[in-house]
Amino acid sequence: MQRLIESDNFPFEFLSVIGERESWRKEIHRPIYHLHKWWAKRLGSTFRGILLSSLLPSNANLEREFYKRHDLSGTVLDPFMGSGTTIGEAHKLGLTALGRDINPVACEAVRVSLGKLDRSHIQREFARLEASVGHRINELYRTTDSAGLPADTLYIFWVKQVPCTTCAETVDLFPTYVFAKNAYVGRKPAVHIVCPACSHVFAGQYTDAAVACPACHHGFDPHIGRAAGVSARCSACTNTFKIIDAVRNHAQPPSHRMYAKLVLRADGEKEYLPISDDDLRSYDAARASLAAEDMADSIRLPVTRLLDGYNTRQALNYNYSSWRDFFNDRQLLALAWLQREIASIADPATRDAFMTLFSGVLEFNNLFTSYKGEGTGAVRHMFAHHILKPERMPIEGNPWGTPRSSGAFSTLYRSRLVKALDYRLAPRELDEDLTRQASSPPFSGVLRDRWPVDGRLEQRGIYLSCASSDSLQLPSHSVDLVVTDPPFFDNVHYSELADFFAAWQSLYPHGFFSRPTETTRDPREVQDADADAFSAKLQQVFAECERVLKNDGLLVFSYHHSRPEGWEALAGAIYGAGFSVVNAHPVKSEMSVAVPKLQAKEPIQLDIILVCAKKRTDASSTSYAPDLGDLFARATAKAHRLEAVGLRVSHNDFRIIVYSELLRRLGSASAADAIAILQRSRDGIDASLKARLITPPESSTRGASSAEAPLEPMLF
Ligand SMILES: C[S@@+](CC[C@H](N)C(=O)[O-])C[C@H]1O[C@@H](n2cnc3c(N)ncnc32)[C@H](O)[C@@H]1O
Ligand SMILES: [Zn+2]
Ligand SMILES: [Zn+2]
Repeated sequence: MQRLIESDNFPFEFLSVIGERESWRKEIHRPIYHLHKWWAKRLGSTFRGILLSSLLPSNANLEREFYKRHDLSGTVLDPFMGSGTTIGEAHKLGLTALGRDINPVACEAVRVSLGKLDRSHIQREFARLEASVGHRINELYRTTDSAGLPADTLYIFWVKQVPCTTCAETVDLFPTYVFAKNAYVGRKPAVHIVCPACSHVFAGQYTDAAVACPACHHGFDPHIGRAAGVSARCSACTNTFKIIDAVRNHAQPPSHRMYAKLVLRADGEKEYLPISDDDLRSYDAARASLAAEDMADSIRLPVTRLLDGYNTRQALNYNYSSWRDFFNDRQLLALAWLQREIASIADPATRDAFMTLFSGVLEFNNLFTSYKGEGTGAVRHMFAHHILKPERMPIEGNPWGTPRSSGAFSTLYRSRLVKALDYRLAPRELDEDLTRQASSPPFSGVLRDRWPVDGRLEQRGIYLSCASSDSLQLPSHSVDLVVTDPPFFDNVHYSELADFFAAWQSLYPHGFFSRPTETTRDPREVQDADADAFSAKLQQVFAECERVLKNDGLLVFSYHHSRPEGWEALAGAIYGAGFSVVNAHPVKSEMSVAVPKLQAKEPIQLDIILVCAKKRTDASSTSYAPDLGDLFARATAKAHRLEAVGLRVSHNDFRIIVYSELLRRLGSASAADAIAILQRSRDGIDASLKARLITPPESSTRGASSAEAPLEPMLF
């Protein structure tokens, strides 16, 4: 039986339209995959579509089946589980799901999200935390408003400082003195400015090019600070120096100075104010408490060190050598108190749910975060870039938080944990009109955190494993379907970034952190800046998938890459592992605007779903030059199908459709032949793509643009 996903009837345009809707607010639509940060999260709707189409016959109507309740049987494996999208969606359809990831941060988040959770326990323990440690943390952030009345600090604004390389005068690294503005500054130009001479805080207009401080009358351009690009200008000797030189002269990360606060008054209004002497005293008191608790060993603080790597190098260059350095003393104190209290919860499932929630809070409460301003979630978290980029104007929130805080434990409790609980009770799908339709029975909450040694699996069971998938410890021919999203060939190592969370998670043994974890890096992580090494590692995992798959099973995964090397590495892995590509479908991937992709002139907005079957030994071997005309005709037809539903297909999008079509033509080629054919086709493809640019077919000008910028670019 040919399955829908193998055939050209697979309605990738339908999934693209749904995916486009879902991608704007993924965390709202499927909160179970968003309890904790993970990178490159895929869309749940895409994976529901993939799973259904891999099991239903080619004449099935996916648009109808998508919203129906299913009780399918079969075993699905995801060897690169990430945040568990495949696992959760498979469970909803009644399937047995085996998930594995090499990284304990990912595994633990999935274990909590899909495992045992008891709403009433959780509510009770949250109330207890709120009354105890929540109250204590809030005390650390008590302040006064402009009338001298008690108020809560929402955010404290800090600036990095370095000593001038010539005269050693301390220089504030303000790139601008406008520290607070609205996300829509064109429409709402009111801003807040800090005076470089006296640190007074006052209101202004974004368009102001010259202002005078109402307190000290100092006149200045609020948009020009002492730091510009890689350099800073000294206020004392006026010398300009390289910031990195000033940083390198010291063994510690740069120091910080607090210069402003946003308070929540008792009447519910917010107010920007300068830092008072009481604020300084309050910070010093927190600092003294931290030192005392640390000395008495009554709290646990991160001890693991940053290891060198593409993603950590910039932080290391700024002397951030331990994960502890990422926090100021008050943040450390509040976070350590909170984690200690969570660790004392008796019920392990509830404790671990809060541990994971706590870990997510870290992302918004450290010195690498900045202020997005008003009109949007206030805190720009540290992973807005794929590298750890030291922030010149970090903000400090209250880690417990008020109802008006962003990125705090108490707010994420409601927006993440409670929402995940709601979704588990009544899983829903989004339809084209943005209404949600009930689709599946509740999550069972039954999950095993290891794979059965005897290979025996329960219907609709969820089995997780934290290990490398280059060796699967499963019987051969035991899995019906492999559905996954492998790492792409680029520089991003998730483990280098995940170590930030692991530094805290490993402080208290729980779940997949039962053993001390120095780092989540592993030489077997499929990631390498070298295409051959990447290809070899991916091939090893795919070869294991080939072994455990039943003979008529499919390997289906999403992939994208803009450069030919990325496709050659992939082709080598697929064909070397004993698979061949039977179809390739373009679908709308993540966001219309994603930060790293935005940097490319022609963003890629598509993922390719590659459908692979075990290589047929009777198929003739392939060493031909593919017919580029035919390839382009098929690619154009697929692009047309997307454009017909209003999606824009960029030039780079088209390029990857062409490459994926080429992958389908390789029959039973060996890895070496597959790579050679792709390499030989490079020039021809490039020439044809260029020719297409000069005389664009009607298609590339048609179709409504879907690339309207969202308010805040989201992460890829
Ligand atoms: C692109 S991400 C998957 C993201 C996932 N689709 C989601 O929606 O969150 C790839 C995952 O592969 C994992 N990984 C890398 N090498 C691995 C290996 N050798 N074995 C198992 N997992 C691995 C990474 O830790 C990462 O979570
Ligand atoms: Zn100087
Ligand atoms: Zn002033």
